[in-house]
Amino acid sequence: MDRDTLIARISAAPDLGALDQLRVETLGKSGSVTALLKTLGAMDAATRSVEGPKIQALREAVSDALTSRKAALEAEALEARLATERLDLSLPVEAAPAGSVHPVSQVMDELAEIFADLGFAVAEGPEIEDDWHNFSALNIPESHPARAMQDTFYLDQVDEHGRPLVLRTHTSPVQIRTMQASPPPIRIIAPGRVYRSDSDATHTPMFHQIEGLVIDKGIHMGHLKWTLETFLKAFFERDDIVIRLRPSYFPFTEPSAEVDIGWSTEKGRRVVGGSEGWLEVLGSGMVHPKVIANCGLDPDEWQGFAFGTGVDRLAMLKYGMNDLRAFFDGDLRWLKHYGFRALDVPTLSGGVGA
Ligand code: DAH
Repeated sequence: MDRDTLIARISAAPDLGALDQLRVETLGKSGSVTALLKTLGAMDAATRSVEGPKIQALREAVSDALTSRKAALEAEALEARLATERLDLSLPVEAAPAGSVHPVSQVMDELAEIFADLGFAVAEGPEIEDDWHNFSALNIPESHPARAMQDTFYLDQVDEHGRPLVLRTHTSPVQIRTMQASPPPIRIIAPGRVYRSDSDATHTPMFHQIEGLVIDKGIHMGHLKWTLETFLKAFFERDDIVIRLRPSYFPFTEPSAEVDIGWSTEKGRRVVGGSEGWLEVLGSGMVHPKVIANCGLDPDEWQGFAFGTGVDRLAMLKYGMNDLRAFFDGDLRWLKHYGFRALDVPTLSGGVGA
């Protein structure tokens, strides 16, 4: 191989491995250039003085070519590595959130989103209530059998009438507090914790309810039914939701109705929608005139409807959990499975149960 071809091959070596192969073939122990150098010893002085410088020059040229190609290939490799390992320090940090949103919080957010769209504000009340707000103002006087319906936790502390304070047994006292605090028209929902002395697979001593209250002029049960139907369709994200209002009794509403939602069987599973069977989901009714009067409003002028339901139960129905107790175990594996991504906020446009 003549000198130019050799140099050209070295300069075109595709990678460090091929280049080293060429080094061995030329300058290695049995390399072609090494072999030429070995011929010098057998030459006479005259020939050597002519051939010697040529062979030395060839060795030098090959050595230089190897060195410069090696440097070029190494630089290329470094460039390639830098390109793949590049970090853009100007990008915002995107730390994956480690926690997840509890289904109860998620459902409360979904409910707030749905009702905000219907013009409802969110109201709150204390979890430690006095007897009047939790019972009497809601038309549940001392002697009333309805008191026994709720297994109340009584506290040692008493209110200004000497009656023991209670852990609120329902979110209905928020109705009273709202009517007392702001003049009608009123449209609120009140989600929150409630307490009853009860514990099995479907009851826990603390659970969550959501209350709804509308007070205005000329309100009737048609408004109640439309509101609940619209809410349940948005919540379960299905248009085929069917509801049934069943006459019932609550001291704070007259008339009162229990609301059933229809279910049907899809691929062997019970799902809401259709009307193969019925499942009770809400208590509701027209706010009792006595309750309106207890809050200092004239029941001949103002009417309204109210409803209440269990948030945990709604979550179980929508997301398919079957043991209520797991909601309060704080088991991280359960939360990982049923929890929601912390940065996904329910919206009506994006899907409330996204
Ligand atoms: N407070 C009731 C309970 O805890 C639920 C309820 C029923 C709330 C009817 C209401 C209603 O506002 O109208 O069982």
